[in-house]
Amino acid sequence: MKDIFLEPIQRIAKRIKDAIDTKNMGYSTQENSSGDTQLQLDIKCDLIVEEELSLIPSVHTIASEEKEHEMLINKDGKYFVAYDPLDGSSLIDVNLSVGSIFGIYEEKWGARNMIAACYVVYGPRVEIVFSQTKTKLYLLQDNEFEFIREIRMDLKGNLNAPGGTQMNWPPFHKEMVDSFFKEGYRLRYSGGMVPDLHQILIKGGGLFSYPNTEDRPEGKLRKLFEVYPFAFIYRVSGGDADDGIHDDMMTLDHDHIHGTSQCFFGSKHEIAVVREVYRKNR
Ligand code: AHG
Ligand code: MN
Ligand code: MN
Repeated sequence: MKDIFLEPIQRIAKRIKDAIDTKNMGYSTQENSSGDTQLQLDIKCDLIVEEELSLIPSVHTIASEEKEHEMLINKDGKYFVAYDPLDGSSLIDVNLSVGSIFGIYEEKWGARNMIAACYVVYGPRVEIVFSQTKTKLYLLQDNEFEFIREIRMDLKGNLNAPGGTQMNWPPFHKEMVDSFFKEGYRLRYSGGMVPDLHQILIKGGGLFSYPNTEDRPEGKLRKLFEVYPFAFIYRVSGGDADDGIHDDMMTLDHDHIHGTSQCFFGSKHEIAVVREVYRKNR
């Protein structure tokens, strides 16, 4: 299965990198389903992904953060691919890293049907992280992606990336975030989940959290395009993920393609702490 998606995603990554590098196209007049004003670049990247995935005969349906409805590609295909073409696009104007995220589901949507996940980081360098039974890192060099190594996380890390507006965090969440800082964890948060989670993965471990808050009672990050793919990648890499609510978020079925959820990703130690704190405060 891997080869069916790895090569198209490599082509997508190169084309999106070129799109990022071309003259800034500014905002469109459209909003996406989550209410964000779309950049013309968001729309362009969405079309690049759509075009490349449409060429794969085994793709049944695609769903994009930038499209209101899912789109049927081949009724005889078996893969359902959800993607965020340009995660963190509001960071383009400040020249911070952005990414693309892909979740590959078999037969239908839903965390339990995910069979592979992948993201691309567009930073000083372009990298692809692809997880199926292992997590593999590829680096773009001289216009070709080269396999670099497998990624395995440590059992415990020392980075803390707390998302969401602090003023609106539940008090027990603030206490938990502070408890990590008191243990010596260091703050790392750029506001792009791809580079923030990539940093924790590559540096061995830590915690990225995006809780439910007063202003966003069901979190911000989108389950099909953002939460499940990273949960899958972290687990395959020896880390863990939780939604603070269910016994195992990766056994959940599908609800709405743009549905959101609170989420926690990290090494095993930090996620065990999240589980304990959130079970107590359910
Ligand atoms: P997108 O650009 O695709 O809308 O996603 C942005 C997301 C994610 O990348 C990041 O972790 C989160 O929004 C940051 O949210 P806050 O600004 O609330 O921290
Ligand atoms: Mn996003
Ligand atoms: Mn996006």
